[in-house]
Amino acid sequence: MKNKKLLVLCMGIMLSAVGLLLWDGYSSLQHNDGAMVETQAHNHHEAHGHGHRTAPDRNSSTNDFPIQPVPPENVDKDLARLGWVLFRDPNLSSNKQISCESCHELTTSGSDPRPLSVGVNGLGTRNSLTVFNVSDNYRFFWDGRVNTLEDQIDGPVHEPFEMDTDWKSIVEYTSSSSRYKELFERVSLSPSESSVKQALVEFMRSLKTLNAPFDRYIAGDTSAIDDSAERGWQAFQSLGCIGCHRGSNVGGGMVMQFGYFGLETRGAERSKDLADSR
Ligand code: HEC
Ligand code: HEC
Repeated sequence: MKNKKLLVLCMGIMLSAVGLLLWDGYSSLQHNDGAMVETQAHNHHEAHGHGHRTAPDRNSSTNDFPIQPVPPENVDKDLARLGWVLFRDPNLSSNKQISCESCHELTTSGSDPRPLSVGVNGLGTRNSLTVFNVSDNYRFFWDGRVNTLEDQIDGPVHEPFEMDTDWKSIVEYTSSSSRYKELFERVSLSPSESSVKQALVEFMRSLKTLNAPFDRYIAGDTSAIDDSAERGWQAFQSLGCIGCHRGSNVGGGMVMQFGYFGLETRGAERSKDLADSR
């Protein structure tokens, strides 16, 4: 199966990034923005005796290379910290057992290792998407039905198979907690639908996988990924994946049904998971 190497590349990038993902996600809550920018600045070319390696096919003086390193984000740390507490708090759900983190575990790539997540009312219908680098997306959910991270949050809050609650309950709960009182005061906000959303969004904006091995590689460090990942990268380009998968999140860049371009399997492997079916 010729896609194997590509999968290895994808998996390799994802797995090797996990450590950095976490480090960056957590550290962006602790360090100032200058430190994040500095991390990026270390993406310089380290030319040291890896001459047998093919350098990335990239003219570093131009920005027209189809894939760019993940860009840093200017994060309000106090607001992000409040968002982190909200993100991990199961008391936001109707049965006080399900937090955002239940389905977006940061140690499992910001998504759920289970095929389907378990929410308040049992098994959901879809696999959870990662929250890492999510602020760079321009559409949200598998079907792209939402255009902003703020609007996306309404989904899990109300969804019966997720948190099964409403904003009134969340605002009541956060208003009555002394811990939240302090956290909200620190950012000069009071608990409301919009401030809770704002804090959760700020937290997610901090979850950037800066300086991952592949990012260092395309920035010129030819030793940042191993040979098999490099072969996958070559195949990714020669097979045309890069025709669609570009930008810093290497996403498909369009909303379409899976299998759309595989005409011979059209219908058979195509997902029936459409936006209007739920
Ligand atoms: C019970 C599991 C569950 C809980 C709880 C949950 N999510 Fe999700 N999340 C999912 C699933 C499943 C999807 C994909 C849904 C879809 O495509 O329709 C998703 C999608 C997302 C996305 C979209 C990512 C993208 O790239 O499109 C974001 C962001 C997100 N969730 C953040 C949150 C936040 C913030 C919370 C807490 C307020 C939360 N989730 C709670 C399961 C969950
Ligand atoms: C015609 C455009 C196109 C081409 C060519 C293409 N893809 Fe995709 N791919 C998409 C779209 C659109 C999606 C779904 C949206 C997304 O994840 O960005 C997707 C999704 C994916 C996903 C799932 C991503 C996730 O978040 O779960 C993987 C993995 C993937 N493609 C790998 C590949 C590989 C490997 C190749 C080359 C063999 C390839 N794609 C070629 C458009 C394309």
